[in-house]
Amino acid sequence: MPGISRRNLLRSGFALSATSLLARSAWARAAVMATTPANDAPAPRERLLFDFDWKFQFGHSSDPARDLGFGNGQGDFAKTGDFSFAKTGFDDSKWRGLNLPHDWAVELPFVHDDVQNSHGYKPVGRRYPETSVGWYRRSFELPASDLGRRIAIDFDGAFRSALVFVNGCFVGRNDNGYAPFRFDLTDFLHYGGKNSIVVRLDASFGDGWFYEGAGLYRHVWLNKSDALHLGQWESTVRTDVKSGFAVLNLATVVQNEGKQTESAKVTWKIVDCAGKTIATAESTAQSIAVDGSVAFTATTKLANPMLWSVEEPNLYAAIVTVETNGKTRDAERISFGVRTAVFDAEKGFFLNGKPLKIQGTCNHQDHAGVGAALPDRLQYFRLGVLKEMGGNAVRTSHNMPTPEWVEGCDRMGLMMMCETRQMSSSPEGLAQLEAMIKRYRNSPSIILWSVGNEEWQLQDSMAEQGAKIAATMVRRAHELDPTRVVSGAVNGSNAKGVSEAFDIIGFNYQLTFPDDFHKKNPKRPIYGSETASAISTRGVYSTDPLRNTLSAYDTNQPGWGETAEDWWKFYATREWEAGGFAWTGFDYRGEPTPYGWPSINSQFGIADMCGFPKDSFFYYKAWWGKEPVLHLFPHWNFAGKEGEEISVWVHSNLDEVELFVNGKSLGSQKVPHLGHLEWKVKYESGAIEARGSKGGKVVLTEKRETTGAPASIRLTADRATIDADGEDVAILTVEVLDKEGRAVPTAGNRIAFKVEGNGALIGVGNGDPNCQESDKEPKRSLFNGLAQVIVQASKNAGEIRIEAVKDGWDGPELTPCKLTISTRKVELRPSVG
Ligand code: GAL
Repeated sequence: MPGISRRNLLRSGFALSATSLLARSAWARAAVMATTPANDAPAPRERLLFDFDWKFQFGHSSDPARDLGFGNGQGDFAKTGDFSFAKTGFDDSKWRGLNLPHDWAVELPFVHDDVQNSHGYKPVGRRYPETSVGWYRRSFELPASDLGRRIAIDFDGAFRSALVFVNGCFVGRNDNGYAPFRFDLTDFLHYGGKNSIVVRLDASFGDGWFYEGAGLYRHVWLNKSDALHLGQWESTVRTDVKSGFAVLNLATVVQNEGKQTESAKVTWKIVDCAGKTIATAESTAQSIAVDGSVAFTATTKLANPMLWSVEEPNLYAAIVTVETNGKTRDAERISFGVRTAVFDAEKGFFLNGKPLKIQGTCNHQDHAGVGAALPDRLQYFRLGVLKEMGGNAVRTSHNMPTPEWVEGCDRMGLMMMCETRQMSSSPEGLAQLEAMIKRYRNSPSIILWSVGNEEWQLQDSMAEQGAKIAATMVRRAHELDPTRVVSGAVNGSNAKGVSEAFDIIGFNYQLTFPDDFHKKNPKRPIYGSETASAISTRGVYSTDPLRNTLSAYDTNQPGWGETAEDWWKFYATREWEAGGFAWTGFDYRGEPTPYGWPSINSQFGIADMCGFPKDSFFYYKAWWGKEPVLHLFPHWNFAGKEGEEISVWVHSNLDEVELFVNGKSLGSQKVPHLGHLEWKVKYESGAIEARGSKGGKVVLTEKRETTGAPASIRLTADRATIDADGEDVAILTVEVLDKEGRAVPTAGNRIAFKVEGNGALIGVGNGDPNCQESDKEPKRSLFNGLAQVIVQASKNAGEIRIEAVKDGWDGPELTPCKLTISTRKVELRPSVG
C-alpha cells in the first residue's frame, strides 16, 4: 500500500476489529477501502499524544491540607508562578503512575447511597470530598529548537472543572466535562529543558444525570506549530453535490502570532482514499498583521465523487497548507465526505437522494471494565456491534462525543445526531455548542445537530424563554454550519417552547403525539429523537423484582417507553417519520430503572455493558439488517421446570419458521411483518430447533440444547493480533463449556485471570446490572454464561499470555484455558514521552 502510515493501519484494523462476526459485512470492506487519513497534522506541525507517563493522586474538595495545600489561606492565585506543585523538582514519587485515558470513578467501590443512583452508586460528588478531586502531574522535555513555535495543550475533554498549571503558573480552567479545550503554553515553557504540568480535576458537580466518570478520560495532545498557523477548527470543506461532480467550498483562517506582518497564501490538496491528489485549489496571498487573523477561501471541483453512505463510507481528505514565499509554515489534514442529507416533512429522510429510515440508537459513553475511559479500539468495537445489528445511526446522548467515536462513524458508515450537553444561550452553553460544531462540522456522518434533551422547564413553564434560548442556539449553529439542520430532543407535544426554533422536530417517546403534530404541521420534518427505553436483562427469562431482573422477551418498558417492536412498527409504517433513535444501544452505569440498589447499571441496552447482545438485538437485526436472521430463545437449560410452560420466541425476517422440540414439530408459523413468533412449549430437557424458510426452502436453522454442567473454560478474542502501541486492546469473551464442548448459557462460575507478557488487563465485566464486583481486579464471575476481559498491549512487540482458571475453592473444577494474543510492532503515534 503506498504511503502507509500508522493511521492507515489503525483504520484497516478497525474494520476487522469490530468482532470477527463483522468482518464479512459489506461495511467492513468499505471501511477498509476508506483509507484516507483522518484529521491529522502534516509537517511542519506536530500533534503529539500526551497520554503516557502521568502521575495521579487524590486531593480533597474541602480540606486544603489534603489537597496539596491548594486553597489554604486564599492566596493561591495572587502571584503568577507560585504554584510549587507545578514546578519541576516537586516530589511526586509517591503518586501513582498511569497512562490516559483514565477514569478514577470506575475504580472506586460502589456505595449504597440512593442519591447516587443515576450516577452508578460511585462515591463522587460534594458529599465525597476524598474521592472527588484528582490531581494529574507529569514532566516533559522540550528541545531548544521549539523556541519561536506556538505550543498548546489540547484536552479532548476532562471530567470536570479542570485547572491547569504549567511550571508553577496557572494557565486556565475549563468547567464542563465533555467539550474539548486548549491552552496556549508558549510563554510558560522552558525550551531546551524540563517542564511540569499539573491538572486538578474536581468532579464534585456533575454535568448530567447518568454515569459520567471522573478524570482525564479522553486523550490529551501537545500541539506545536509555527507562529503563523491555521486557526483551530477553522478549516471547512463544504460540498455542493451536482450531477456528475461536486463543488468543494474551501475555507480557513490563518493567525499570525509572530513578530512581523506576513504575506501568506493557502493551498488545498484534495486526496482520495489511495492518497492520490485529485484536485487542488489556491487562494490569493493576503497580508496578516501581527496578532491578526485573516480568512482564506477557494473552490474546486471533484468529478464523479464517490459519495459517503452507510454502505460505502467513502472519505476524502483536504490537506490545507499555509505558505509564505514558497515555504510551508503550517498544514493540517481535514477528513471529509461528499453526500447530501435531507429531511422531508412528507417523505422522511434522504441520504444522497435515496430514502433511508434512521435506524438509530442513543448511547452514553461508558463500557464495562473501563468506565468512561475507552481506548480507541473499544469505541470502534462498540460501533461495530451497532452496525452488526443493522443500526445506521447513533445519537450522542447527552453530550458531545470523543473524536474517535465520530471518526469511527465517518469510517464505518454510521450517521450521527451530535448533541451538546447544556441547552443554554449562556456564554458557557454557547461555548460548548461552538466547540462541538467547529470540531466536527467536516464529518460526513453527522446529519443533524442537537442543542439538548428534555428541558422540561424550557418546553413548558418557561416556554417563552425556551423559545428564545433555543432560537439563539439554532442561529449560532447555522452561522457555524449552514449545511445541517438543528434540532433537540423533546419529551412532550412539541407545541411550544424550544421546538419553535428547531428545523426538524424530535419526539422522545410518547407515540400519541407525532400523528397529531404532523397533521397540524405538515411542513415540519419529524423523527424520533429518543424511543423505546425497553428494559431487559441479558439471558434472563422471567421478571423478578426480588432479583432486580427483567425478562429478555421484548415485553418490558417503563411508563414513558415502548417495546422494541412497538416503537419500530410505529416509525417504520409512517412514510413521513424519518426514523428514530432507540434508548439505548448499550446498558450503561447508573439509571437502574425500574430498580435501585443493588442494581448499579441500566437495563435499557439492546446489548449489555460488555456489548453482548440481548435477544432484542435480533429483532432489530431482522428488521434493520439486510441479511436473513433466525434467532431462537430462550436457552434450553431449565432443570426443575419439567412440564412447565415456557415461551419460545423467534426473531426472524424469513417467510416461515417451524419449531421442533426433541425432533417433534410444534407447527410452522408465518413471520408477521415487523413482528416476532411465539410458541408455548412444555419444558422437557433435550433440544429445541427452529427451521426458517424462504420461498418454501429451509435456509436457516437454529438449535438450543440442554447442556451438562460446566467442565472447562473457553477464551476467545476479537482479534488474534493487535498493535504493540501501548493503546490497542483485545476484547476477550469468557465462557464455560460442558463435557461435550457446549457453552453453558446459565453459568455463573467465578473465573480468575493471569495476564503476562507484553500487555496488561485493564478491565473486566459480565453485563450483569446487579453485579458489584470490581471492574479492575483480574477476576469475574460469568453472568448467564459470559464475561469479558479487556487486555491492552504495551509498546513492546511480542505476545500477551492470558490464562483463565477457576477462582476460589468452591464449585466444580474447571479445566483452565490459555490464550495468546500476538502484539505486532507498528509505527507509534508521535507522542511526548
Ligand atoms: C429519558 C432521558 C434519558 C434517560 C431515559 C431513560 O427521558 O432523556 O436520558 O434518562 O429517559 O428512559
